[in-house]
Amino acid sequence: MKTMARVEHAEPAVPPTIPERERPGKAADPCVMVVFGGTGDLNKRKLIPALYNLATSNLLAPEFAVIGIGRTVMTTEEFRRKIDQDMRQFATVPVEPAGWQPLLSRIYYLVGDAQDKDTYVRLRELLEEVDKNHRTRGNYLYYLATAPEFFGEVVRQLGAARLAEERDGHWRRVIIEKPFGHDLDSARVLNREINRILKENQIYRIDHYLGKETVQNILVFRFSNGIFEPIWNRRYIDHVEITVAETVGVEGRGGYYEGSGALRDMVPNHIFQLISLTTMEPPISFDADAVRDEQAKILRAIQPMSPEDVLNRSVRGQYGEGVVEGQRVPGYRSEPHVAPDSATETFVALKLLIDNWRWADVPFYVRTGKRLPRRVSEVAIRFRRAPFVLFRKTPVERLTPNELVIRIQPDEGISLRFGAKIPGPLLRLGAVKMNFDYADYFGSTPSTGYERLLYDCMVGDATLFQRADMVEAGWSVVQPIIDVWRALPPRNFPNYAAGAWGPKDGRDLLEREGNHWRDIDS
Ligand code: BG6
Repeated sequence: MKTMARVEHAEPAVPPTIPERERPGKAADPCVMVVFGGTGDLNKRKLIPALYNLATSNLLAPEFAVIGIGRTVMTTEEFRRKIDQDMRQFATVPVEPAGWQPLLSRIYYLVGDAQDKDTYVRLRELLEEVDKNHRTRGNYLYYLATAPEFFGEVVRQLGAARLAEERDGHWRRVIIEKPFGHDLDSARVLNREINRILKENQIYRIDHYLGKETVQNILVFRFSNGIFEPIWNRRYIDHVEITVAETVGVEGRGGYYEGSGALRDMVPNHIFQLISLTTMEPPISFDADAVRDEQAKILRAIQPMSPEDVLNRSVRGQYGEGVVEGQRVPGYRSEPHVAPDSATETFVALKLLIDNWRWADVPFYVRTGKRLPRRVSEVAIRFRRAPFVLFRKTPVERLTPNELVIRIQPDEGISLRFGAKIPGPLLRLGAVKMNFDYADYFGSTPSTGYERLLYDCMVGDATLFQRADMVEAGWSVVQPIIDVWRALPPRNFPNYAAGAWGPKDGRDLLEREGNHWRDIDS
């Protein structure tokens, strides 16, 4: 039987302590943000709405401007009209002209091919003009929202046009979107390529999961509370389950997804962020390198898989047609730009182990996929059962282990399950839950998830961005899986119906060890 014990606010809700630099009014550095891929989806859906949210929170410098670069021929006026339209659809809050118009009037457009040298000559001219008009002090933030094959090229061209040099007190920073490489070798090559032009502290490899409040809160939860850290280890934790489930299919991105698949798309980046924040040792400070040193260490401690391990500890799946949230949907192979006999996986489940003193032998079960029954991302910590001793001569048949669930999205919060006596003359136990909901406690602050990341880059704080060694450590873990999967193409695809929790093998991965995936609906 399940009951719910809600956490009461013993006192009126205390507003969280906001770090000095995030207090409204503490604006980021003046700068021009140059978006390569200016006419693309990311700019209209996330970046511009995020800039608007920053502007209305007074976190953007008044001396700020944006230059979008794209191949589509249009004028700045036309670009502004388009962005203005897009904002009606993608803004996360109602758009107030008083906040929007000043930002819109500082957006410019440059027609150009990212591979063409001439684009950078014209960019330089436009930057000089915009910098002078908006007094942005020569600080330039380049946002690479292009197709990944252009990342190296854009950086090389910026270098050749001397647009990446930092001198006379100004800064030049580059945000690089994912995917950063498509395997270990290509990530290494890309790192080498960009490191020829940029210093590591100019490079901001973005992972939008780190922009999520709930992901950032994992560290705060672990290290600002005295009661969890002593039990956060192999002595008390039986296993950890990480689920990142999506109901959507590939949403017209079949072209990209065919070359990527669920493993590359989600694991070395988003899922490894969740793992590293959940398992890293306490850093000595919140300084970018202190935090990232610990993250890199834990990623390097993930046990490398032999080909045999890959066969035993990894599961891949591809959805066929089915029903998701009451809608009949086609199978992956019928999606646009997907081969009719595609071998690309849309689901992956793994059992990972971490070879260090804190985590030795604790399984980390991970699953992610498209067209699953629910959209949910969470980290569930399953503790060891209490000894049964006390209950031997009672009607109690078994004890439910404690479970702490960190809900990343969409229903953000944290819950702790524990056993309680069900009222009545017989000794019976029920599992009850203490539940904390972000929205109840803090209200909801609609955001795109990019606000904090853009702001951090503008103030030069790289804590929430990936360092070269972290990216390479992540790829090193998944490379053996990529290799074995490539050598042995799947023979049973599609192997799960859209709307199911992945293929049966994904359940067997846990069940043969006496575990089972947590029932997320309970
Ligand atoms: C992206 C992946 O990085 O993350 C997508 O390329 C995925 O395939 C998306 O849908 C998930 O992000 P979120 O924030 O919706 O969990």
